Amino acid sequence: MKIFKNKQSLQIQILKDKCISFVPTMGGLHKGHLSLIQKAKKFKCKILVSIFVNPKQFNKKDDYQNYPRNIQRDIRELKKLNINYLYLPSSQDVFHFKTKNKIFLDIFSKKLCGKFRKSHFEGVLDIVNRFLEIIKPKYLFLGFKDFQQLTLINKHIENKVINTKIIKCKTIREKNGVPFSTRNSNLTKNNFKIASNIYYYLLNLKKKIRKKNRFFKINDIKKDLINLGVDKIDYIENINITNLKKTKKTSDNFKIFIAYYLKKVRLIDNI
Ligand code: PAF
Repeated sequence: MKIFKNKQSLQIQILKDKCISFVPTMGGLHKGHLSLIQKAKKFKCKILVSIFVNPKQFNKKDDYQNYPRNIQRDIRELKKLNINYLYLPSSQDVFHFKTKNKIFLDIFSKKLCGKFRKSHFEGVLDIVNRFLEIIKPKYLFLGFKDFQQLTLINKHIENKVINTKIIKCKTIREKNGVPFSTRNSNLTKNNFKIASNIYYYLLNLKKKIRKKNRFFKINDIKKDLINLGVDKIDYIENINITNLKKTKKTSDNFKIFIAYYLKKVRLIDNI
């Protein structure tokens, strides 16, 4: 595994390659990331992983500061997986150049997390747009857990006619159902258990919606979640994932989207 800290040397190297499979991360690697890399191995391209904790996508300073980082451990894991390249840029390296494309921010960015994390998706798209211009990957691997992020990156790629294909990867969960997330390492044991109960509650809620062929009152659901130990709910919404609008019929292709806090830790999921 070759490690690059600046884009020029990375670009000289990858110019020699036929194609690149790109897995962008903010480090704190877990089984969710590892599954993206395993998926990338099925494609016959060189695998490039980036680790960069992007300050522009954090709307709170303390969230950025408390974001779990473990670069030495991450490097050991990536070496074991035998990936080809690791890009570890500085802010200067990724932000100090003029991009060819401006970011395209679809109106879906105004919903769900967009309502609660000011400028978050602008920050995500800014960095991903920069990575795409530096790396020009053939494939980009993103997880379904961050459905809104994945959708907005896809809309940007389509709008700007960028020659990169997104490979959508399924959400990987702990044995107790909690989706893998770097932020999980900030959860206490008890809160990890609560997160598991929330997962089963939502799974059951979705089954009930389908079985009884009706939706349930959002205030009752919120009360249940608080009783289960949630400290704050940003949103819980049913979204039709075909047209990205609020679900109208129980037969729609919908998912329940949630963002909630356990103490200071913000968790998201979709079921
Ligand atoms: O999903 C993430 O880890 C980040 O949002 C990404 C895509 C690496 C951009 O910083």
